[in-house]
Amino acid sequence: MKTFLACLLVLSVSVSMSNASCYFLPLNPVKRGDEIIGCYDMKGEPHEFNTHWKTKDCLECSCSNSGISCCTAYATPVNFDEEKCISIFNNTACAYEVVEKADHSKTCEVHEWVG
Ligand SMILES: *[C@@H]1O[C@H](CO)[C@@H](O)[C@H](O)[C@H]1NC(C)=O
Repeated sequence: MKTFLACLLVLSVSVSMSNASCYFLPLNPVKRGDEIIGCYDMKGEPHEFNTHWKTKDCLECSCSNSGISCCTAYATPVNFDEEKCISIFNNTACAYEVVEKADHSKTCEVHEWVG
């Protein structure tokens, strides 16, 4: 029984760790002459191959010769008192803050984050 529970724990931890949400954009090539040197992002801005950048909406993106991949750079709180508390995304800090519904100046304890 103990072994079974330990396996379950390992399984649930590895599931939550692979939970970062990512998306992929096929290559929209930036050319210099005949040579492809990078990717255009969704705003039409050029990025050279093998560069990384952060977007205003808190994504980490990188450009490779197959395209752009972007992942969320923040963790999402999943295990907290949802009756009493609410999670608010802070765009300046690129992080969720979990506060009491009745009083946003009071932070709540979060037992688990994913992402
Ligand atoms: C968001 O985070 C910044 C930097 O940590 C902080 O100064 C600001 O007060 C926060 N905003 C809200 C709405 O909590």
